[in-house]
Order: sequence, then structure tokens, then C-alpha cells
Amino acid sequence: MLAALVATSLGPIRAVGQAVESPPASGTLRQAAKGRFLIGAAVSARGLADPRVADLVAAQYDVLTAENEFKPASLQRQPGRFEFATADRFVEFTRAHGMKLVGHTLCWHSQSPPWIFRGPDGKPLAREEGLKNLKAHIDAVAGHFRGKVVGWDVVNEAISDAKDEYLRKTPGLRSIGDDYIARAFEFAHAADPDAELYYNDYSNENPVKREKTIRLVRDLKAKGVRIDAVGMQCHLILSDSNAIDRLDESIAAYAAEGVKVAITELDVDVLPRRGRGADIGALEKDGANPYKDGLPPEVAEAQARFYARLFQVVLKRPGVVNRVTFWGTQDGTSWLNNFPVPRRTNYPLLWDRALKPKPAFAAVMDVLGRP
Ligand code: G3I
Repeated sequence: MLAALVATSLGPIRAVGQAVESPPASGTLRQAAKGRFLIGAAVSARGLADPRVADLVAAQYDVLTAENEFKPASLQRQPGRFEFATADRFVEFTRAHGMKLVGHTLCWHSQSPPWIFRGPDGKPLAREEGLKNLKAHIDAVAGHFRGKVVGWDVVNEAISDAKDEYLRKTPGLRSIGDDYIARAFEFAHAADPDAELYYNDYSNENPVKREKTIRLVRDLKAKGVRIDAVGMQCHLILSDSNAIDRLDESIAAYAAEGVKVAITELDVDVLPRRGRGADIGALEKDGANPYKDGLPPEVAEAQARFYARLFQVVLKRPGVVNRVTFWGTQDGTSWLNNFPVPRRTNYPLLWDRALKPKPAFAAVMDVLGRP
């Protein structure tokens, strides 16, 4: 049903700028970034099928990430049966609008078909079988999109949140062993030698995960494995007032390891939170939903200041942060309306539910220096 929706509503590709009330005449994020770094957003196939969203996205950003459509569960639900049609629409859309595309993601413990690393009994596959499945997936997917994406989130969220554990005990690790990460990078490089390769995770602006990330980068480099950038998801929380300082320190620490930094999934949660991060295993049943009738202006302003500080940090180190991608464009379709508590009303992005730019949009434009 979704594929049909996409196939009919995405084509023909619309001209940029039609029928959009926002953004204001003062310019776009893409113009304001002035090539100093790529500015991007995640969008779903359903989002691209909405002409108003498609126009906004094409006007505002340099680079897109498909929110779900390049994940293993979307591309290879059944062994050997690759379904590229929906993902291919992102290639067509970005090409038609002179945009770049990032592939998200080749290897993740979530949104992956269980058979990749587990047998019918749920037990880990033998190492050689797991490696064979990982290689087959990456060969086919990175091969199919060779030359069509600028880079891959090769492995996503493989570092443990637990203080004393280095790597998350993912199905891939249980089948193959710790080196499944290095092998995934090698397979990706072989399948698409010109693509950039990223390790992507949440909460890696925080010191504990930062240290483990540095360990992983060093480990990959010591093995001669190509890694171009650390992807910092940056699912940040407005009430976490030190987050930007930790981000600043962590960008410096990654740069010192000789890798670039991409901010890959930026949003700023304004609702009350018990936990941190983006661990999708951490869903909560209940939680306050204080802004269901609208975002109070003072909260919108606080969020604008938060975003402004973040972009000041990005601009501090030219050439280090090479991309900032928002995880969505407008508040109404953000994953944060359903995480960590289902069915709340959140406001994490730069455009509101009517596609009107919020104070945070103006604040980011001011920091970037309007075109
Ligand atoms: O496709 C089905 C649809 O058929 C069904 O009707 C509907 C009912 O709930 O579910 C749909 O699947 C949902 C899917 O998004 C597509 O909309 C899943 O339930 C939902 O869990 C899934 O959520 C995605 C989540 O990753 C899954 O892990 C979010 O959209 C997506 O924003 C989110 O993105 C992740 C990044 O990939 C990695 N970093 C964290 C980030 C936020 O969790």
C-alpha cells in the first residue's frame, strides 16, 4: 500500500518551490550553509509522497536519508529476495533535485530480518553462516546503490549503553564475534569503493560512549579498515543543558582520531523524559504530555536558543563536521511523538505541523548567516 502510494504520488517529480507558503523569502538552510557543510534531513517514503513536504525538502536540503526504507528489513525481508523499488524512488528524487543521498543502514540489530544472524530456533547462526548472510546483504545492497549514495551508515548502534560493556550483544556479534563490525566495513568498501563509510550511534556525545567509540575507530584503523566519519545521531533533549558542551568536546575528540564527524539524526525533544538516548528498546508506558494544545512560546524560544548553540559548535571547526542531518522536517511526523512514550505531542524539529518555520528555524538561519 505504501509502495503504491509512493509510486503514484512521487511521480512525476514536482518542480521545486511550488505551493509552499514557507520557508520565508529570507532563504533556505541549504543557501545559508553555503557549502561549509552539507545540510540534510531524513524523510520517509510517505513524507516524500506529500507534495508540500517534497517541495520543502527539495528546497531546503543538500542531502537526504531514507528514514526506514534502506534498512535490512525493508530491503531483504526474505532471504535473497531484494525489494529495491521504494528505495529507488529516493535515488530518483535526489537525482531530480540535485541532492545527495546517504544509505542508512547496512547492519543494525533492529529492523533487520531475524534469519540474517539467527536460526529458526532463535539461536545464533554459526560464524561462517552469519558472515555469509552479512556479506550477501551488503554485496547486494551496496552493489545496487553503488555510485548513487555518497556514503553508508555501515553499522548502526553497535556500542553498548552499559557502563562496563564495550559492544552491544547484538545477533550479529553472537553469531560472528566482535569482528562483525570490521567485516561489515570491509564488505561495504569492496562493494562500493568510492562511498564514504560511517559508524553511526546515539548518545556518543557522552563521555562513556565516546571512549568506546574512539576504541572502535582505533581498532578499525589498526586493522587497516576504512572509516571516514563517526555519525553522531544527536537525539538531544532540551532540558539537558550540558548536552551542547559534551557535543563540543566529543567532536574535538573524534577529530583528534583523524575521522570526520557527521551529525546524522538531529532533533531536540521538548517533553519530559526519564531516560536518555534513542534506545528503541526503552519504550515507556506513561509519561506527561504537557503541550498537546500547542507549544508555549517560551519553550519554542528555549529550543531556538538550544539549536543556535549547536550550530555555533558546528561552525567552530570548519572541515570537521561535514554534515548536519535532521531526523525529519516537521514536528507532526517525528518519531518522538511515539518515543519513549507512545502518542504524545512533541515539537523536536524546525517546522511545525502546518509546515510553518518555528523560532528554531530563524535561530539556525541567524547563526549560519542568512544568504
Ligand atoms: O511499516 C509499518 C506499517 O505497515 C504499520 O502500519 C505501522 C503501525 O505501527 O508500523 C510501520 O512500521 C513502523 C516503521 O517505523 C515505519 O513507519 C514501525 O512500527 C516503527 O517502529 C518504525 O519506527 C522507526 C524506528 O527507527 C524503528 O526502529 C522510525 O520511523 C525511525 O524514525 C527510527 O529511526 C531510528 C534510526 O533508524 C536509528 N537511530 C534511532 C532512530 C529513532 O529511533
